[in-house]
Amino acid sequence: MNAKREGLVAGIALLAVFGTAHAQGNDASASMLGFAQSHNCMSCHSMSRTFMGPSFDSVAHRYAQVDGARTTLARRIVEGGVGVWGPVPMPANTQISSDQAVALADWILSLR
Ligand code: HEC
Repeated sequence: MNAKREGLVAGIALLAVFGTAHAQGNDASASMLGFAQSHNCMSCHSMSRTFMGPSFDSVAHRYAQVDGARTTLARRIVEGGVGVWGPVPMPANTQISSDQAVALADWILSLR
């Protein structure tokens, strides 16, 4: 399977997960964690502990009251960023499509 096709399959899987998110919240969240693991996010992030990058819990807290956080975070996930949490940059994650980035941002923001 080539990378492009894998991305497509992952995108379809994500849509399926979000279509049923209300019915099965925990399963959907577990699937997003699996997606984040398989896309390298968890080599720098953890759910509740800061190491290379901020914990996803603290990201959720920080952006809880921020308008447009979903869009901002989705863009940062794809393009990378630096200086918001500290001097360590997050490299661009070019393997993530913008739809996948929005799904990841929604998931992270739901972690409070
Ligand atoms: C090489 C390490 C690394 C990888 C891989 C990585 N990140 Fe990050 N991430 C960071 C660092 C460092 C920061 C803090 C950047 C800053 O201070 O602006 C960060 C910040 C973030 C933020 C907060 C952005 C903000 O502006 O507040 C989110 C959300 C995030 N990462 C999600 C992800 C997701 C989702 C993935 C996987 C697709 C991922 N990261 C992969 C290191 C990484």
